[in-house]
Amino acid sequence: MTQNSIEKALAYYQMNYDHLHQELLALLRIPSVSAASDREPDIKKAAEFLVNKLDALGFKNSKAYPTSRHPIIYSEYITSPEKPTILLYGHYDVQPPDPLDQWETDPFEPQLRDDYLYARGASDMKGQIWATICALEAILQTSDLPVNIKFLIEGEEEIGSPSLDTFLEEHKSMLACDLVLNPDAGMLAPDKPTITYALRGLAYFELRLYGPAADLHSGAFGGVVDNPANVLSKVIAGMHDEQGRVTLPGFYDAVRTISTEESNELSKLGMDEQFFKEIAHVPALAGEEGFTPVERVGARPTLDVNGLYAGYIEKGAKTIIPAYAMAKISTRLVPDQDPNDIHESLKKYLEKNVPETIRWELDLMSGAPAYITEVQAPGVEHFKAALKATWGVEPLKKREGGSIPVATAMKEILGVDSIITGFGLPDDQIHSPNERLHMPTHKKGIEALIRFFVSY
Ligand code: BES
Ligand code: MN
Repeated sequence: MTQNSIEKALAYYQMNYDHLHQELLALLRIPSVSAASDREPDIKKAAEFLVNKLDALGFKNSKAYPTSRHPIIYSEYITSPEKPTILLYGHYDVQPPDPLDQWETDPFEPQLRDDYLYARGASDMKGQIWATICALEAILQTSDLPVNIKFLIEGEEEIGSPSLDTFLEEHKSMLACDLVLNPDAGMLAPDKPTITYALRGLAYFELRLYGPAADLHSGAFGGVVDNPANVLSKVIAGMHDEQGRVTLPGFYDAVRTISTEESNELSKLGMDEQFFKEIAHVPALAGEEGFTPVERVGARPTLDVNGLYAGYIEKGAKTIIPAYAMAKISTRLVPDQDPNDIHESLKKYLEKNVPETIRWELDLMSGAPAYITEVQAPGVEHFKAALKATWGVEPLKKREGGSIPVATAMKEILGVDSIITGFGLPDDQIHSPNERLHMPTHKKGIEALIRFFVSY
């Protein structure tokens, strides 16, 4: 019976690949950039596109719920209270495509080259949402779905999910479920299906430094008026010590150490120097002394400058002492660090290190604690079996250095653990120019999802 359903669904997917692929292209053409205020109409369009698609599949109560920023989509396919209910998470927003001149083709005009589909959001994560939709369409058109499905698809993930907690609080019973499947993290390689059991958290800041009231002549004032660009550079340089450790006071206080056992498990994943050097195209790695690359990226907190602005940055030379300097700084957090404590710690560091010549302002733009599952989420066995049947190998368990705030929020507010997975690859260039989706892996992912949904 199950085998038969799988075969029929897979056959449907093969037969209908064309229209499903065309619809994915249409979704990728919508520039639903959550960070850009002028993209509001596109955000709305992407939400409507998905609501219409789910309606067409026979889902009920599909709606884009307005929030103070971008709508959250809810939709359900419920046939019996006896069946287990799976909540599928997705985000239809994407990162800004900049720098535009580094794209080989238009980020919002998807193009297939070799095995890859190139477009902003192809891997992170419209392609992943699409995989779940394709699997469900294939099953619903060919047999019965043995589970109830609820979709929650937000439009603010890439800006830190500011409306999500309130939405979860206000719709607890609507969202009640047995397990969450979150395909916003990827796999380690095309032949290595992966389940992620921990994500890092985030505290993201904007730091602004003010010097003189306006830019000044650097000859007439250099030597007497302090320079916010100089000060910013010094303050940032001081945030790490020689050992690559972050120097903010108390930064490591709440960090949970990893056991030798876990460290051994992580070392088997092949995420070594060579792995990171190859996918990042760098000649050598950097980071905190005393930890391996896989530990540094998954189990240790970090601090990075994500953007810098100061003074004259156009072509040519201009001799000034700038009035203003700014940095966007993010910290990646691990259990049990609290983003608010990290905010306090950065404030303390600045109070101590910014001289009285300079006025400063610091905003916490978004914060989310890390996520870790010690318990096996219900359904993990089903999901592992589906991956194994599709790839023919045992799935790997890894920690992810990126953040997906919803996982922690769902655990805290709804009380459910998530199966975090996905069918993107480490070299998909997410958040970078030329983001892409590896189509053979995407198709296998759809097969695995079909196997998972019918396995109940
Ligand atoms: N899909 C990513 C998270 C991710 C990154 C998973 C790398 C696997 C590998 C997600 O969309 C993302 O980018 N999240 C943001 C969250 C932040 C804005 C709160 C991130 O990690 O920067
Ligand atoms: Mn992302």
